[in-house]
Amino acid sequence: MDFKLTEEHLMIQQAARDFAQAELLPGVIERDEKQIFPTEQIKKMGELGFMGMMVDPKYGGSGLDTISYVLAMEEISKVDASASVVMSVNNSLVCWGLQAFGTEEQKQKYLTRLATGEIIGAFCLSEPEAGSDATSQKTTAVDMGDHYIVNGTKNWITNGGTADVYLVIAQTHVEKKHKGINALIIEKGMPGFEVGPKEQKLGIRGSDTHSLMFTDVKVPKENRIGEDGFGFKFAMKTLAGGRIGIASQALGIASGAYELALKYSKERKAFGTEICNHQAIAFKLADMYVAIEAARHLCLKAAWDKDNGHNYDVSGAVAKLFASQTAMDTSIEAVQIHGGNGYVKEYHVERFMRDAKITQIYEGTSEIQKIVISRAIIAQ
Ligand code: CAA
Ligand code: FAD
Repeated sequence: MDFKLTEEHLMIQQAARDFAQAELLPGVIERDEKQIFPTEQIKKMGELGFMGMMVDPKYGGSGLDTISYVLAMEEISKVDASASVVMSVNNSLVCWGLQAFGTEEQKQKYLTRLATGEIIGAFCLSEPEAGSDATSQKTTAVDMGDHYIVNGTKNWITNGGTADVYLVIAQTHVEKKHKGINALIIEKGMPGFEVGPKEQKLGIRGSDTHSLMFTDVKVPKENRIGEDGFGFKFAMKTLAGGRIGIASQALGIASGAYELALKYSKERKAFGTEICNHQAIAFKLADMYVAIEAARHLCLKAAWDKDNGHNYDVSGAVAKLFASQTAMDTSIEAVQIHGGNGYVKEYHVERFMRDAKITQIYEGTSEIQKIVISRAIIAQ
């Protein structure tokens, strides 16, 4: 067992850290307050290779491993979790899904532009009546021979307004239940495809979340990913890796909040000494440090499993469950350590606290991660 990161890993981590400080930190409070999408920043992230990190260079990607992706996600999320969810969806749901299961034509047409960040993608599984219960898809894709006709609504879609390419899960053969579901590539601008208003959110407010409406959208058969009926497996296999991305986002939120709290506790004085000298505060810092160390190891273990051809359904779920709880606990304590300053925007930690919550909800709620984990351990 070797816990040492390679020179390349350390370089990527440093590049992401430098980028986050130089390009994401300025304006992060304003983007959060006004719900401004980080357009320019995402473009630069594309130029630096952060939008298609695990994509083969022959399709315009950086050709890196999942460990590099986890390291970069942590650093970006330490500063701006809105930018990191755009990155996560594009990398681990859209690019990875297309690279793993798309046809050569689909890769040439879509992946090459997604991997460079020239365009961004969205992953559309959730519906008003199918969130955790993802097999209950109501969106239909009726087989018309050489094309599908898609009708339905998707909810809470990240990058919903800004994406150009949407991977849409829809039911084709209702009688076959989840085995009748397909995954289709839908482009912005296809007639009958409408984007709903932007959601007003508690956290990750710089990211762009919309409902999507499909009314008789004609989608060519060549836009189907995989065999007929592969759509639900496609979603599950893709989400298994996506959960490593969101676990790393949660890790970054936790470590960002912790670093600010540690610094503040060494500067702020109360009762004649820096507050870190009060044991109640010092022990909070110790608890945060331990949980973050554990979350980081779980994220890297899941990434290692993926990179080494091992099953990562469970290790990814474990990492997401633990890291998202760590993000929540740590950010709440970071606000507490900042006292009244923690409650105002300029100290950043209140934003971390609001951003942390979503990591327990999307890409499978914490309860869903427990379903995945418990089913696997009981089946052993
Ligand atoms: N890999 C491959 N196949 C899988 C799989 C996996 N990881 N997990 C399940 N499957 C397959 C099963 O084998 C089964 O297929 P077979 O019948 O052929 O064996 C099929 O999928 C159905 O599985 P289940 O019977 O286990 O289905 P279920 O109804 O009990 O649900 C679930 C399972 C894990 C709860 C699933 O519905 C789920 O993951 N729900 C959460 C949905 C979710 O994560 N949504 C996230 C949306 S994207 C997002 O949120 C992005 C963002 O915010 C940024
Ligand atoms: P529900 O499924 O209705 O769950 C409600 C509560 O019941 C939860 O606490 C849940 O854990 C619990 N529950 C449900 N079933 C069980 C059970 N069997 N056992 C125990 N507890 C259970 N989706 C996408 O497809 N693409 C995206 O890009 C995307 N981005 C999102 C961005 C944001 C900001 C948000 C808020 C959501 C996003 N989602 C996206 C949707 C997200 O994945 C769902 O909200 C999530 O999967 C939960 O589904 P739900 O909201 O319908 O909750």
